[in-house]
Amino acid sequence: MNVLVIGNGGREHALVWKIARSRRVKRVFCAPGNAGTAADGENVPIAADDIASLVQFAKQNQVQLTVVGPEAPLAAGIVDAFEREKLRIFGPTKAAAELESSKAFCKEVLRSASVPTAEHHVFRSAESAIRFLQEREDMPIVVKADGLAAGKGVFVCERRQEAIDAVRQIGQDKIFGPAGDRIVIEERLHGQEASVLAITDGRTLVTLPPAQDHKRAYDGDTGPNTGGMGAYSPTPLVDEKQLGWIEEHILVPTIHAMKRIRRPFRGVLYAGLMLTHQGPKVLEYNVRFGDPECQPILMRLQSDLLDVLEAAASGDLDRIEPLEWDPRPAVCVVMASEGYPGNYTKGHPIRGLAEAAQVPDVKVFHAGTTLKDGQVVTSGGRVLGVTALGSNIPLAKLQAYTAVKCIRWDGAWCRKDISDKAASL
Ligand code: AMP
Ligand code: GLY
Repeated sequence: MNVLVIGNGGREHALVWKIARSRRVKRVFCAPGNAGTAADGENVPIAADDIASLVQFAKQNQVQLTVVGPEAPLAAGIVDAFEREKLRIFGPTKAAAELESSKAFCKEVLRSASVPTAEHHVFRSAESAIRFLQEREDMPIVVKADGLAAGKGVFVCERRQEAIDAVRQIGQDKIFGPAGDRIVIEERLHGQEASVLAITDGRTLVTLPPAQDHKRAYDGDTGPNTGGMGAYSPTPLVDEKQLGWIEEHILVPTIHAMKRIRRPFRGVLYAGLMLTHQGPKVLEYNVRFGDPECQPILMRLQSDLLDVLEAAASGDLDRIEPLEWDPRPAVCVVMASEGYPGNYTKGHPIRGLAEAAQVPDVKVFHAGTTLKDGQVVTSGGRVLGVTALGSNIPLAKLQAYTAVKCIRWDGAWCRKDISDKAASL
């Protein structure tokens, strides 16, 4: 069958690569894709948010399954548009995607399902949020824009004044536009963070092995927040027993709550968790694969991903055999452009990709890359996700950094400590 993957990041390259290995696949398209998806599949020059053109492309090219990578088209209703045309698509409807696109809605669902999460309040104006902050004691607190803000809408504040400034930026200066029409203020939680993702058809849930992202730019979790500088899976921070607990007390009740309010959830339910002393609590839900978590997770998957995604999209996930995984862990190191997550330049030729590809048990997933005159050049902030398997986490890490050393371009950099948190237990 023909499959269409939507998006152009490292997550989408991993999806294209894995789907292309399915025994049932004929052609894998990626819209708009990057230099990596062009090598493992076929790129289509349609933007991820051009829903009408994507529908048309799917119809004209006998696409039997579409898989959506990023959140923006989901929040814009791409699944509803495809389903109206009787086209099969993997992902949540617009109403269900609100779990990610509105933090206030997400909190309501969590509360109604009795899922552990931080205490919170929602405000419709900056003034009311500031009054609330002034009336309570000066203590650490978290301020969030309600809507999508490309991962930048969260301010973890030490002091009241910092929180008030964050409220002003979100609610008055509208730095995130209408995403700041509502403001969520939350108790600050402490602990290690982990990502637990599950594929679901709205009834059956297939939980994937836990992963850990590295959101801060620099070593030792310092510097500004990024889209994620690296990830590894499985993380020993969540053991089998705890994963079972998370499934039972977090994921399943959420799926049930969504069904109850007539927004049945299909797709990837991704719980961003804080592992607190009182147990795991939900920081946020995403409604898609994590980037870069998707890369190490799919690197380990031995089952046919297409079977699972198709079954989830068709509502018969209960017929799928348990997934098989490579017993070895995988580590993904993101190589970024100089200046990222701030301003950076593009168009730098990347050298050493062929050498890196020779390193055993390594796959270099592309993110911000494009082809220019037959040469792979940089085109984004996060450029590559160098992913390796190893017989334990330190060896997987070593293998990933061995491949990283082969790759060069002007200003390339990466964190040096991806997966070290696994050893801090
Ligand atoms: P979110 O987009 O809600 O996951 O927030 C982004 C990041 O902000 C998370 O990965 C955490 O590092 C941090 N964060 C969010 N909410 C809280 C909270 N209640 N307590 C502490 N840190 C938080
Ligand atoms: N890795 C974080 C995210 O995908 O949102």
